[in-house]
Amino acid sequence: MKSYSIKELLEKQPVGEPVEVNGWVKTFRSNRFIALNDGSTIHNVQCVVDFENLDESILKQISTGAALKISGTLEESQGKGQSVEIQATDVFVHGTADPETYPIQPKKHSLEFLREKAHLRVRTNTFSAVMRVRSALSFAIHSYFQQNGFYYMHAPIITGSDAEGAGEMFRVTTLDDKNPPVDEQGKVDYSEDFFGKETNLTVSGQLEAETYAMALGKVYTFGPTFRAENSNTSRHLAEFWMIEPEVAFNDLDANMDLAEDFIKWITQYVLDNCADDLDFLEKRLLDEEKSKPQNERSEMTLTEKLKFVVENNFKRVSYTEAIDILRDSKPNKKKKFQYAIDEWGADLQSEHERFLVEKHFKCPVILFDYPANIKAFYMRLNEDGKTVRAMDVLFPGIGEIVGGSQREERLDVLEQKIEDLGIDKKELWWYLDLRRFGTATHSGFGLGFERMVQFATGMGNIRDVIPYPRTPQNAEF
Ligand code: 4AD
Ligand code: MG
Repeated sequence: MKSYSIKELLEKQPVGEPVEVNGWVKTFRSNRFIALNDGSTIHNVQCVVDFENLDESILKQISTGAALKISGTLEESQGKGQSVEIQATDVFVHGTADPETYPIQPKKHSLEFLREKAHLRVRTNTFSAVMRVRSALSFAIHSYFQQNGFYYMHAPIITGSDAEGAGEMFRVTTLDDKNPPVDEQGKVDYSEDFFGKETNLTVSGQLEAETYAMALGKVYTFGPTFRAENSNTSRHLAEFWMIEPEVAFNDLDANMDLAEDFIKWITQYVLDNCADDLDFLEKRLLDEEKSKPQNERSEMTLTEKLKFVVENNFKRVSYTEAIDILRDSKPNKKKKFQYAIDEWGADLQSEHERFLVEKHFKCPVILFDYPANIKAFYMRLNEDGKTVRAMDVLFPGIGEIVGGSQREERLDVLEQKIEDLGIDKKELWWYLDLRRFGTATHSGFGLGFERMVQFATGMGNIRDVIPYPRTPQNAEF
């Protein structure tokens, strides 16, 4: 007897043949119909048990969540909603799930409730679909870069420098945190720490990726990054995954081209390879939209949004042009922006970004040439002396999905910047070496993986697109 995954079984449909499947019970109706799912697909297989010939003790053990092995013959189904079903001849119970205490019942659970059950929520249709799309997207990302001559680089997780200079780092230490050794000035003495210095979890693999790009040409990282920013929003995690390509000899224009081509390609990959899950997630979203007032409902379905990104050019707008647009705009007739944008030099808030994308241009936008003083130290200063070659890609429903730049390749300019910002130059000696030995124009960007998964699945909260979200006051699992 051949054992199948449910996906394989439903694709091949070996009608008339003996088959075996393993999975978890979704529903059990009329003591006769088991909907079984094994996670290989959003679809269940219906198994029909001959309860008159099935041991009563086994029948009693079948309930939602129980793990079963079912053997029987695959037959064409008379029932609605499926073309084949298994006429079961044997049911083996791997493990039961007590209906009194099993939290995932065959009814609609709220996403908030399921967040408290992060270890079991992937057994629901919504989370299994999201996590399959997440997996497909990871594969697409590697495929894109590998097909385009990039090398995958593993950036370190523990670092001695702050790549973004934003000071939002998680300390890594082996010192006694209640009673650390202190020096004569009363400051913590890190010489006794494991690494003999202050270290943190990385906020970005960019600086190390730059060193590799300046040898291998085209590289990308894809790994976890950590930020101790206290943002309790639907777009921020304390632990998130970032994809950071870095390319020697690319200027900002080439960097924008790469970001656009890359995002379009991985989006098309999801459209081509995740049809069943997208279909389910789209229906889920339509259901959710029904509870919103008419004017807040999305004009496009999930699939339409993905196709729109693939088929349309991203609008490229300088920061200065964007400020002019925002200065003359209101998000709607009655309301002003919560944060006014009157002056050149102000940082954009997410309400401004979303206005540009969703109301003004109505397409993905790449903003570039930001004021130097609101961006990180490593960005290439423009000839005007006040803007840098930065770029942010802004997406509908998400806001900033990518942040990147052309890097400052001139040693003197970079050293001056580091000094002006009061960053410890000693920590960056190796980074500055790149500008001493064979320096060249180079560029890169970071795509927030979870924000991309949010876009591809239509999930509103970033906590629902990563298996175990890490957010302030929340690391239960
Ligand atoms: O704009 P960011 O901070 O850029 C960098 O870290 C650069 N070093 C990237 C580079 O040039 N190689 O972060 C990049 C992206 C953001 O656009 C956003 O999508 C995501 O990472 N991101 C977060 N995602 C989830 N939770 C957070 N707390 C995030 N912070 C940034
Ligand atoms: Mg950014």
